[in-house]
Amino acid sequence: MEAQVGNRIVLLGPPGAGKGTQAKLMQEQTGMSHISTGDLLRAAIASGSPIGQEAHAFMERGELVPDALVINMIEDRLARAGDDPSFIFDGFPRTVAQADALEHMLAARQIPLDHVMNIAVPRDDVVRRLSGRRTCARCGTMFHVDFDPSRRPGVCDRCEGELTQRDDDREETIRARLEVYDKATKPLAAFYRSRGLLRDIDGTGTAAQVLERMRAQLNGRH
Ligand code: AP5
Repeated sequence: MEAQVGNRIVLLGPPGAGKGTQAKLMQEQTGMSHISTGDLLRAAIASGSPIGQEAHAFMERGELVPDALVINMIEDRLARAGDDPSFIFDGFPRTVAQADALEHMLAARQIPLDHVMNIAVPRDDVVRRLSGRRTCARCGTMFHVDFDPSRRPGVCDRCEGELTQRDDDREETIRARLEVYDKATKPLAAFYRSRGLLRDIDGTGTAAQVLERMRAQLNGRH
């Protein structure tokens, strides 16, 4: 990816749109930090921390964790960054209150947001992607039973760890997460469009094809 892509990027899109997949690819290619609130919350649950204990029940039901908790988590993360930090935000912000808070946090540090990539994928594809997702319990590498299968079923190609299914990737929880997305997160497209930051990305096709579309947008070739 060319250097002039900007330093702060938000990835928006429904559960299963490929935000995590694209963020990891961008991180590998640009060295930008990947900040996933979902990953931070799952790590907090695994460690048994107070944040994890508070977040657990919300996540299990497919609901959003309260804004204040997530905003504090991001404030902590930004406080640990250097002078000109480069971030790919994945899964944050997710409500208008979180977007307002991010705007204030970045303004206070005089580091603007450069792009918001709004990844669109048809509902049926999203459900297939989520129900087939498998993640390595040891190293976090992600697979898909049909679209990106591991060489040996249930075993990570990278570290031989066990592949597991996320608790919130059960059918009824996927439905709840999609409803929450429609209600709470979709309005963020208008929020960022009005600021001239929104870039619409077709999220269908292979991960490499989606990355190429993002690259074209980021470099003004579209
Ligand atoms: P989070 O972990 O953020 O989940 P999500 O937004 O629901 O998104 P996903 O991780 O499910 O999907 P993704 O878009 O990253 O897709 P992925 O690349 O993994 O949040 C989980 C929960 O935490 C929330 O429900 C909430 O409770 C809480 N939470 C998190 N952030 C919060 C916040 N800010 N505020 C409040 N609460 C918060 O891909 C999915 C699958 O598809 C994979 O198997 C992948 O291999 C496959 N795939 C990816 N791209 C393609 C492609 N192009 N073609 C085919 N398959 C593909």
